[in-house]
Amino acid sequence: MTQEDLFKKIVSHCKEYGFIFQSSELYDGLSAVYDYGQNGVELKNNIKEYWWKAMVQLNEEVVGLDSAIFMHPTIWKASGHVDAFNDPLIDNKDSKKRYRADVLIEDHIEKFNDKINKEVEKARKRFGEAFNEEQFRSTNQRVLDYQAKMDAVKARFVKALEDNDLDGIRQIIIDEGIVCPISGTKNWTEVRQFNLMFDTKLGSVAEGANTIYLRPETAQGIFVNYLNVQKTGRMKIPFGIAQIGKAFRNEIVARQFIFRMREFEQMEMQYFVKPGTELEWFEKWREKRLKWHKALGLGDNKYRWHKHDKLAHYANAAYDIEFDFPFGFKEIEGIHSRTNFDLSQHQQFSGKKIQYFDNEANEAYTPYVVETSIGLDRMFLSIISSAYCEEQIGDETRVVLRIPAPLAPVKVAVLPLVKKDGLPELAEKIMNRLKLNLNCQYEEKDSIGKRYRRQDAIGTPFCITVDHQSAEDGTVTLRHRDTMEQERVSIDDIERIVTEKCDIKNLLRQLM
Ligand code: GAP
Repeated sequence: MTQEDLFKKIVSHCKEYGFIFQSSELYDGLSAVYDYGQNGVELKNNIKEYWWKAMVQLNEEVVGLDSAIFMHPTIWKASGHVDAFNDPLIDNKDSKKRYRADVLIEDHIEKFNDKINKEVEKARKRFGEAFNEEQFRSTNQRVLDYQAKMDAVKARFVKALEDNDLDGIRQIIIDEGIVCPISGTKNWTEVRQFNLMFDTKLGSVAEGANTIYLRPETAQGIFVNYLNVQKTGRMKIPFGIAQIGKAFRNEIVARQFIFRMREFEQMEMQYFVKPGTELEWFEKWREKRLKWHKALGLGDNKYRWHKHDKLAHYANAAYDIEFDFPFGFKEIEGIHSRTNFDLSQHQQFSGKKIQYFDNEANEAYTPYVVETSIGLDRMFLSIISSAYCEEQIGDETRVVLRIPAPLAPVKVAVLPLVKKDGLPELAEKIMNRLKLNLNCQYEEKDSIGKRYRRQDAIGTPFCITVDHQSAEDGTVTLRHRDTMEQERVSIDDIERIVTEKCDIKNLLRQLM
């Protein structure tokens, strides 16, 4: 199965099993907006819980916040979003399709990498055990040629971005012969800047200032509450403020399902530090965040770092964590050292002093900020796409979602073998005992095999089958999702066994 076919299957599986629906489907849908169904919302809530506990509960100096989506419009002027939160767009005149010019070039650059990797894999097969990858990469002429071409395009691209040179960006597309994936032609328009913020009107704000924005990031809600939290929480630097919430961007090229949405959720944390210590904290947070991802056990090889070639004018270091999605390695989280840019800007635009008095150093300063920012929906996609698995069992295909047990939407399904002989009543009793602690599902329709398959398809780690023996000796069959193994256990032991495996503490413990 190609990665493209796999991705299509994952998208339709998400719909079929109540994880994700197209928004407004009844009215033929709204592009790049999605609704989370009965299973999707559980998985999403569990990811949030994992992030929140890892950030706020495990780090005593990190506290939470829930700021409003609507904010004073000057905030977005101060943050630079009104003037510079733009994407460079280009249209293909033949297909009439619109693209992000920077993404076209980035995808083109990535193709050189793919070519290099193919050469490496070919050589690995040819040389077997004796293969020395490092040596091959640094001496093979074909690899060196690809690398040189890639470096040259990259350097031109970075320069064009830095100079905000839209003609230069277009020229790279022309010179590199980049074609429209739909029409296959190079008939491109000029490159234009397009602001990504949605605006709306607020009735009560004074004349002339009634345009407000749907926030394009949650971070500014944290910056403008820095003083409130620091003072009321008597926070000492270094400390962090964490927030989970909706963000909105008028993405022009919305692709790849929930990877790029117009309404999405972010989990962001701003860590306020003493100037001069920011790069040290930056490294610490990079390490912590990668550990958080890896603790899920999706595979260490699924992650890689991407160092920003072009730093935003306010940043002095920036890395992304990229995840190996079915459509390739793409950004899932950004870790940025943002200096004191945002707080200084808000100080200037609001006319209010935003400073910290450091008792130990006996000095006042505007703190520097290290930011960790992850998209909840991208995180969701990373889990669901690596969990999706098709297995051949005899002449049947089993589709199973191997979601890490603590994040699974339903932890245990309680299934009476038949709908008579008091088995449903006993199953319900067990269910009532478990549901105080665990998200359970009760199912009595269809054969037990079909019910197991339905639970596999939503990633339920355990099924309990209540049969005639259960009524006699107080035991049930416990079936494990991943191995399909079945064991006989006492009803009194179920809660302990399931909780042991599904407890979010299993993930958190690995972070300590
Ligand atoms: N405060 C910093 C900030 O917003 P960003 O790189 O623009 O940085 C952070 O966004 C994260 O938000 C990204 O790594 C990604 O996971 C997620 N994200 C950004 N735009 C998105 C979109 N249109 N749809 C889904 N997730 C998005």
